[in-house]
This record gives sequence, structure tokens and C-alpha cells, in this order.
Amino acid sequence: MRDDLTKINNTRYSLEKIFPDAQDFLPLLGTDYVEYYVGNAKQAAHYYKTALGFQSLAYAGLETGVTDRTSYVVVQDKIRLVFTTPMPGEDNEIFDHIQKHGDGVKVVALWVDDAKSAWEETTNRGAESYFEPRTEKDANGEVVKSGIKIYGDTVHIFVERKNYNGTFMPGFEKWESHYNPAPVGLKYIDHMVANVGWNEMNIWEKFYNETMGFANLITFDDKDISTQFTALMSKVMTNGNGRIKFPINEPAEGKKKSQIEEYLDFYDGPGIQHVAVATDDIVSTVSAMKERGVEFLYVPGTYYDTVGDRVGEIAEDMAILKENGILVDRDDEGYLLQIFTKPLTDRPTLFFEIIQRKGAQSFGKGNFKALFESIEAEQERRGTL
Ligand code: FE2
Repeated sequence: MRDDLTKINNTRYSLEKIFPDAQDFLPLLGTDYVEYYVGNAKQAAHYYKTALGFQSLAYAGLETGVTDRTSYVVVQDKIRLVFTTPMPGEDNEIFDHIQKHGDGVKVVALWVDDAKSAWEETTNRGAESYFEPRTEKDANGEVVKSGIKIYGDTVHIFVERKNYNGTFMPGFEKWESHYNPAPVGLKYIDHMVANVGWNEMNIWEKFYNETMGFANLITFDDKDISTQFTALMSKVMTNGNGRIKFPINEPAEGKKKSQIEEYLDFYDGPGIQHVAVATDDIVSTVSAMKERGVEFLYVPGTYYDTVGDRVGEIAEDMAILKENGILVDRDDEGYLLQIFTKPLTDRPTLFFEIIQRKGAQSFGKGNFKALFESIEAEQERRGTL
């Protein structure tokens, strides 16, 4: 199978060049929100406000007439996160999700102009429905939503909000809080990465290609992403306008257990591995997050002995990047700066990436080795390598 993997390198990563005949039957305006199912939404929201600089936005629960769940919505620039906890009651799927997966991402919601068409186009092409198009109304207008299932227990919800001007969505009220820690400069979701099981990467590539109209932007095989001990493979899928990028990872054979297998064990199946968020000033974003208690992956000091030769001239002071453990990589179009948090959950599953693009449209291939050695050191400490 590895021989079948095609590589698209040295090309400008634009869909038009890779897929000149691409038809956008599923126009996506952007990521609408990301919803986590968690054990304690109130405390999760507080953590994301305190540590990651999100702001209070909206709330749904008993006070707003919602009885089966409590949700807190937080926002930072274009990023909206929803934290949801189940309330007592029979047949509440949220309980099962948390029991199986721990805290994790349930919904990757996509902003569309027509949620009914999005559902029809994708289910006609083989997607399994999560729920049919439905309209929710309140005094501020209406939102049309529909949903399809993706890998594991994860789903996409299509959100059409052109006739809505409320805070978030019907069922939610504005969440006013006296506690409003400053933002840390997170702007928008750059990409969201899925981990899927052995030999499943191509299945999900096919799904995103045929069912969602995405194209394969780039493929990394196990030679690109391997260390002495562990390996993985990845295909980056992107939608027609390039606003949505979903890399899909699967484990590859190595001498020891790869981080993808560790994830699959602890998440008990496929799911979202990391959310990469963009900033315009990674040094200030990362130092603010560190001050507020966020832990980042450790990068060996020796990384900085050779990085200058690899990436050439950059505007930032390398000493400051080293002090903060920020990684640098370059491609044909420019360079990028990136750093990864340690898992934000008790299970070694979900983490965040902070990324600042200075022209580069790629994903930091030159950093994979240093990064994965760092992850392996963490696995070693957890006894899961
Ligand atoms: Fe990433």
C-alpha cells in the first residue's frame, strides 16, 4: 500500500493546480465551531479562558430550557469552542461518549450557506446521516443545521446562520461573566488533525475526496514521519477554497508503539488529535500561555544548533525562539513557526498546536523528527512507548 501513496511536493499547494477540474459541490465558508464532550463543561470553559485566553460567549442549560446537557461557548477572534456535559437522563449519548473517549472533540462544525444542500450532497455520496436538516428558531432568527458521521464517534455538523443574528444559536443565551482574562492572540483554526486506525487513512481520504469534494494537498509517508522507533503516515485533505484542512494520520510499523497507536488506545478509537490555531505573533502568544500554566512539548536545545542552516534568514530572534521552544520550518513559499502543547486532557489524546505562517503553506515536515522524538520521550515517561 505504501507504494500507492502519491507525493505532491514542490508544488504551490493550491487546489486549482492539483485538481483543475475540482467541483465544489460542498462550499464551506469556514469552521463554525468545535464542540467537546467533557466531564465538567464549567471547569473546561474556565481553563480555556484562563490558560488559552478565550472569552465567555454563550451558555445553554437548565436556565435556558435545555435539560439534557449544559454547554459553555467560548470565543477568541474567529475560533468558537463549545464544552458540553450531559445532565442526568436515560439514553444520553454524551455519557457514553465520555465514558469511552474521555474528554474529546465530538463535533467539527462547518459553516455553510445551505445546510440542507450540504446534507443532501454528502449523504447522496455515501455519508451516513447524523441528523437530517432542521431549523431552530428564537427571537433572533433561525439557524439551519444538519449532520453527518465521520471517523469513530466524531461528526460534522453543517451550520447555516445567514438568517440569524443572536449570540451563538437558538437555545443559548449570552454568557456574561465578571471574569474576562485577556486573549493570547489566537486567531483562527488553521487545521484539525484526525488519527484513524491501521490501514484506514486511505478510506478517509476517499471519504473526504468523494463525499466532501476535498482534494489531497500533500502526503507524508512513513519515511517522512519516522524516528528510530516509531512511524506514522499522513494525508492532508483540503476543501475547494482551502479554508478547511484536515490532515489524517494512521500509525505505521516501527520498533516501538507510535504516538498514533497510543492515541487510539487511550481515545478508544479514531478521533481528533490536535487543533492547530493561528497567531500573528507566536512569541507573545506562547509566552502568555506559558505564564498561564500551559505546558508545551520540550524541544532538545540541540535542535537550534542546526535550524539556522535549514531555514536560513528569518525575522525572529533565534535566541527567543529557543527560549520558548518554538520550531521553525521553511518551504518554497516562505517559513512557519510552530509549537505543540502537551495533551490538554488527562488521557494522552488531544492537544493544541500554535502556528504562525510567514508565507509557508506546509505543515512543518522539517520538524517532524525533533517533534516526534520529544513525543516519544513523553510516551516513555507514561510507559506507553
Ligand atoms: Fe498540525
